[in-house]
Amino acid sequence: MLASAWSSARIRRYSELSAARLSDFPGAAGVRPGSLREAGLALACDEPRPLLERRLVIVTGKGGTGKTTVVAALAVAAARAGRRVLVAETARDEQVSRLLAPGGPPAGHAGRTLRPGIQALRIDPFEALAEYLTLQIRARPLVDLVLGNRGFRQLMGASPGWRELITLGKIWHLEQIRGPDGPLYDLIVVDAPATGHGLTFLDVPRVVVSAVRAGPLRRHSAYVEAMLEDPERTLLLPVALAEELPARETAELVSRLRGALRIAVDRVVVNAVAQPPFPVGLEDLDERLAHLPPDLALGALPSVPELAECARHLRARYELNEAYAALIGRLTGLPSVRLPYLQEGADSPQAIESLAGPLLAPPRREAA
Ligand SMILES: Nc1ncnc2c1ncn2[C@@H]1O[C@H](COP(=O)(O)OP(=O)(O)O)[C@@H](O)[C@H]1O
Ligand SMILES: [Mg+2]
Repeated sequence: MLASAWSSARIRRYSELSAARLSDFPGAAGVRPGSLREAGLALACDEPRPLLERRLVIVTGKGGTGKTTVVAALAVAAARAGRRVLVAETARDEQVSRLLAPGGPPAGHAGRTLRPGIQALRIDPFEALAEYLTLQIRARPLVDLVLGNRGFRQLMGASPGWRELITLGKIWHLEQIRGPDGPLYDLIVVDAPATGHGLTFLDVPRVVVSAVRAGPLRRHSAYVEAMLEDPERTLLLPVALAEELPARETAELVSRLRGALRIAVDRVVVNAVAQPPFPVGLEDLDERLAHLPPDLALGALPSVPELAECARHLRARYELNEAYAALIGRLTGLPSVRLPYLQEGADSPQAIESLAGPLLAPPRREAA
């Protein structure tokens, strides 16, 4: 469950938030709608194309923002639309099979079908390396001998970059696979490592291409780089929570994307957005309670001031969440798709299914 501690201090900050200046946010420097295009990058467009038109969607964001939830919901949405989907997890701890096909075995590196139209796998860098080397050397026993060597594994464990490169290489390979009637997978959804590592993850092929002059490593890295930078094929989908720190981090992520990487990003998913606090017809419940005589007898219910305080708290929480959701849109200059906060959590197939529709909604742009 997402734990949101709505302390009174945070609620108080809501009133200060509207006065916050964009320059207070490090990632916001120079960001305004349309500035990506002007920067010559095929990153943002006024009318984002439907998510399902991409071949590869890389879901990124800070841990705990709902990345895996969004990956699973996108897979469900795509399968509903008749697409053949492959979910690729990169974390050690496999989650998507548990969310979409609870009780079944893990998909592992070999992968398995979770539901009609949805395949999943968890990319194991050592397995992927073995596959790659076998393709190059054509002698699996020899590869197994080398990779099984403890010293070699320790050396690899301490070497930077190769996991990212080999993981992306595997994704490239999966994207290339053709069946009798075209690509084997219409859409590949990647659960990227949590931000921080997220962009390093995507930057490695570019670094290799610029550092290595020739040879297969350079050639293969260039294929991966070309896939990532092709806006027709690939989209980066950041997930954020409508809270202060995630808002800042998402702004920084998008700003770094613009500065360093050339991967398309056309929307932000703002996850777990609080819904209006009172039901239709009772939208002003907090005001009504605030105007009742404080000593009115309510039987077994809490006193009028206590109820009024609760209602005020709910309203403030909702408005704070709305304000941060809007701030994310303004700071990134990107339209957003909002997913509702689910009281019961998002750990069940039903919860994931309920998020699939809202995820495909056309993103909306915040008023400037
Ligand atoms: N919209 C939502 N409403 C309620 N709980 C959510 C929502 N999205 C995610 N969660 C819960 O938040 C937790 C973290 O989500 P998860 O997708 O695992 O995040 P991440 O992959 O970014 O670490 C999970 O327990 C998940 O069920
Ligand atoms: Mg996750």
